[in-house]
Formats: sequence, structure tokens, C-alpha cells
Amino acid sequence: MDRIAAHDSVLLSEVVQLLAPAGRHVLLDCTVGLGGHAEAMLQAAGPHARLIGIDLDEGNLLAAKRRLAPFADRVRLFKANFADVRDVLAEAGAAAADAIIADLGVASNQLDDPQRGFSFAADGPLDMRFDPQAGTTAADLIGRLGESELAEIIYKYGQERYSRRIARAIVSARKGRPIERTVSLARIVSGAIPAGARKTRRGVHPATRTFQALRIAVNDELGNLERLLAALPEMLAVGGRAAIISFHSLEDRRVKVAFADLAAQGRGGILTKKPVAATVDEKRKNPRSRSAKLRGIERIV
Ligand SMILES: C[S@@+](CC[C@H](N)C(=O)[O-])C[C@H]1O[C@@H](n2cnc3c(N)ncnc32)[C@H](O)[C@@H]1O
Repeated sequence: MDRIAAHDSVLLSEVVQLLAPAGRHVLLDCTVGLGGHAEAMLQAAGPHARLIGIDLDEGNLLAAKRRLAPFADRVRLFKANFADVRDVLAEAGAAAADAIIADLGVASNQLDDPQRGFSFAADGPLDMRFDPQAGTTAADLIGRLGESELAEIIYKYGQERYSRRIARAIVSARKGRPIERTVSLARIVSGAIPAGARKTRRGVHPATRTFQALRIAVNDELGNLERLLAALPEMLAVGGRAAIISFHSLEDRRVKVAFADLAAQGRGGILTKKPVAATVDEKRKNPRSRSAKLRGIERIV
């Protein structure tokens, strides 16, 4: 399948409206992915804008490069962590950006590729790294962590009430042999949840929360988001706007607090009193948009 068609950019027109790219010069996409938001921003910004795009996933950067080919002389893509946004901007020779977007989490093409290990819909290696060339895989993590550490991760990042039972089941299963496949882990998790509670809630598989928790831990998603949020005020030009799309409450809370702090200091104006959600139509067409929350801020001084 065409990789570009394999990910629908969430809240696309809402992001463009919020960031008002027209006439802006430096656009920064912290999660360029397959380039959907980047392309829309470049189209709206006009011929003088340039875009700096960041992603940890080399495959997605390649796809973004192809998609953004019509703007090639005004686009620079970096394989980097958005937590290091300061270094990227410096390397791109930009002091600050006029519009910043971060569309957090996992892209649909990553989720749908069994080799990446993000999902148990098809069997694959338990990887879950955004950058498959670096860092610890989910298999390493669940092979190495103690029972209480595992339980804490599953509880904190997955908000899973059966975290202790799941951690116990993982530790017991790995004594036999290492847990290395998505489907084996999903089976172990399901088996650890009491039968009555296992019934899928609104179609949610019982292993979904544990998989989310492991993905967040493998990629240090909250740590990276905090580093991005800390760098953001400085990276944003005065009058510039930033938009962040998050997909779960742990992320959204951090964005909300960081924006509120900036507003309280008199340095930023909040553009979204309440987070913007997808329309009913978008939610129907793209289930991934159901949990999306968009928040925006403008730097005032
Ligand atoms: C939801 S997708 C972005 C999709 C993109 N907005 C589009 O329209 O095609 C999120 C992307 O962020 C990347 N990513 C996640 N965490 C990252 C991080 N800390 N630094 C850089 N990229 C990251 C993932 O690899 C993925 O490609």
C-alpha cells in the first residue's frame, strides 16, 4: 500500500487554522511523520516559508521527503528526537520558528506494520521503538524489569487496574522462555485479567492499555514531551504560534500545564480555551482521531 495513503493526518484543517501559517517564514514540524501536516502548512504559508521537519523514524522521513518534493528547496528534514529541538534549529540555522506543530505518538503506518511491534493485531517482534536503530525494545524491557517496576509502568502509563496481576503473569511466563512476540504478550496479558473484566470495553482489547504503557516507556514519550515543552517558549518567535496534538490524558495534562504556565508568566496567549477535538465526521472516517486533543498557544513577548 502507498505509505502516504497509510496515515490520515489528524485535525488537519484545525491545525492550519490555529497556526495561521500564511506569511510565516519558519515552520517547524516536530513529528513530520508522513508529511501531512507539513505539506498543508507549506501550502498555506506561501512561497517564502521554509520548513524544518523532525522525526525519529528514518522510513517516515523518507516518505515525508517524497511527499514534500515539490517544496524540496525549502524543506530540511532531520532524524532527531524533538526533545533536542534546540540543536536541530541551530543546525538548520534558524533562531526561532514562527509556527510549530507536534502531532504526538504513533503514525498509522507504524502501527499497522507487524515488524514494528506496536500492535497485537498481527504477530511481530516486540519492538515498539520509533527509531528502530536505537534504544531498548519492548522485549528487552519486559525481559529485564522487575515485577514491581513492570506493574508501575503498566499502571502509570496504561492506567491499567490489573497492572499487578499482569506484571506477575509476565514474570512467571518469562521464566519459561523470553517473551518476544506481540501475540504471545497479548495472550499473557489477557490471561492475567479476570474473565469478567476481560470482555472488551467498547471494542478495546484487554491488552491495549499494557501495549500503550510499554510503548510510552520504550520511547520515554512523557520525558521527551516535557523536554520539548521546556524548550518551546524559546524556540517560538514572538508572535509565533505552537500547536500540539496529544492522544492520551497523561500527555494532554502536561501540555495544558505548560501552556498555562506560559500564559501566567504573561509570555503566551492560549488559543484554545478547551482542547479542540475531531469532528464527528473525522472520528467516523479516522478512528485514530477519536482521542486527539489539540491545544495552541501564541508567544506574546
Ligand atoms: C502521529 S505521527 C505524525 C504524522 C504527521 N503529522 C503526518 O501528518 O503525517 C507521529 C510521528 O512522530 C514521530 N515521533 C514520535 N516521538 C518522537 C520524538 N520524540 N522525536 C521525533 N519524532 C518522534 C513518530 O516516529 C511518528 O512518525
